[in-house]
Amino acid sequence: MEDGESLKKIISHSKEYGFVIPSSEIYEGLNAVYDYAHNGVLLKNNIREYWWKSMVQMNQDIIGVDSAIFMHPKTWIASGHVEAFNDPLIDNKDSKKRYRADVLIEDYLEKQRNKLNKEVLKAKKKFGDKFDENEFITTNKRVLELNDRIKSINERMADGFKNNNLNDIENLINELEIKCPVSGTSNWTEVRQFNLMFKTNLGASSDSNMELYLRPETAQGIFLNYLTLQKTSRMKIPFGIAQIGKAFRNEIVARQFIFRMREFEQMEMQFFIKPGTQDKWYKHWKEKRMEWHLSLGIEKNNYRFHDHEKLAHYADAASDIEFKFPFGFKELEGIHSRTDFDLKSHEKLSGKKIQYFDTEKNESYTPFVIETSIGLDRMFLSVLSSSYSNENLEDGSSRVVLKIPKQIAPVKIAVLPLLKKDGLPEIAKELLNEFSSEVNLSYDEKDAIGRRYRRQDAIGTPYCITIDHKTLEDNTFTLRDRDSMGQKRINKDELINIVKDELTINNLLNN
Ligand code: GAP
Repeated sequence: MEDGESLKKIISHSKEYGFVIPSSEIYEGLNAVYDYAHNGVLLKNNIREYWWKSMVQMNQDIIGVDSAIFMHPKTWIASGHVEAFNDPLIDNKDSKKRYRADVLIEDYLEKQRNKLNKEVLKAKKKFGDKFDENEFITTNKRVLELNDRIKSINERMADGFKNNNLNDIENLINELEIKCPVSGTSNWTEVRQFNLMFKTNLGASSDSNMELYLRPETAQGIFLNYLTLQKTSRMKIPFGIAQIGKAFRNEIVARQFIFRMREFEQMEMQFFIKPGTQDKWYKHWKEKRMEWHLSLGIEKNNYRFHDHEKLAHYADAASDIEFKFPFGFKELEGIHSRTDFDLKSHEKLSGKKIQYFDTEKNESYTPFVIETSIGLDRMFLSVLSSSYSNENLEDGSSRVVLKIPKQIAPVKIAVLPLLKKDGLPEIAKELLNEFSSEVNLSYDEKDAIGRRYRRQDAIGTPYCITIDHKTLEDNTFTLRDRDSMGQKRINKDELINIVKDELTINNLLNN
């Protein structure tokens, strides 16, 4: 399936089966704003819970906060967002479409990387077992040329942004002959900066009116509360503060479904450390966060690190965990070594001391910070897109199945009475009552059993339990497995074990 094709299928599937729907649809919708329908809410809640429990509940040195979306406007001056939270935009004069200049160059680079990978694959096929990849990459003329080219474009782009030399970014786009995907021309405007923060007003009368920003990241709510939280929770460095909440960005390139939204949710953790120990903790959190992703059992090849060349204004090192979305490898999570930039800036602008007092050494200092930051909606898309599968079956039919990791699936078990009579629905409802406090179940008595299985496959339900006449005799049920479609007879005790051992978030946490 073509990449664009597969994203389209995922978007329409997620609407049809109650995951994600366009916001305000009866009024033609809002670009890059989405609502979550029932199954979407369940899946999102499960991802959120898994993140929160593994970051906060499982770590005695991480505490939580839920800070307000509205923050004093000085927050964003100190954080650098007023000055520097800009995207470089460029318009194509023919299509009138607006693009992020860095994204155009990144897309171009991705194409070069794909070319390079193709060369390696071709050689691998040709030389078979004798193929030495390392030797090939370091000696093959074409691969070396492509590598040099990628490196030099990357360096030039990083320099251009670092020195705010937007003219050179424009030159680079023209020299690379990058074309607008809509008009197919290179008829570009100049590159200019655009601030991504949304403005709003606080207060009713014009004299008490205060201009505010909707927060573009949750992290600043952690920095502003750092000292109070550290003291009230009696935390000692190193320790972390975690937060889940909405963030808002007036994105220029608002496409690719819930990958880039204007209103989205972040799950962030700031880990406060002693200055000088940032290399160690940066490495630690890079590893920990990758382990968290892999613990879900999604194919390992879908993940990779991308270390930044172009650093944000607050960072001395940064890496993304990238995921193979239907439109290629893109950032899923960021791990940033944020130095003491934020705390020092807030200290300076507020005039309040925001330091850590080390009781053993009897000295105060401003902690350094390692941040882990993941978009909940982006994580949702990574789960949805990697689990979507269109399978051709042996009997000639086909099915769409979401192979969502069982522990975070929206519905864990569907309870299906074979017939709507003979006491079968009553038994099914008893099971619902018994297990509903443990896991999310669903009940379905309509249509033939095969069609009911398909409906559950389409929302990723790991197991279906069918109640039939044999159940009346011996209290056993048919258990049908989503992935293998295999069926077996089980009793209540076995069902209890499946729920306990396979279907809860605790199963992930205990692994
Ligand atoms: N506090 C640091 C920070 O906000 P970021 O790399 O700008 O860093 C962190 O954002 C994460 O938030 C990203 O890795 C991504 O998962 C998510 N994110 C950022 N912008 C987003 C958007 N417009 N829509 C959905 N998720 C977004």
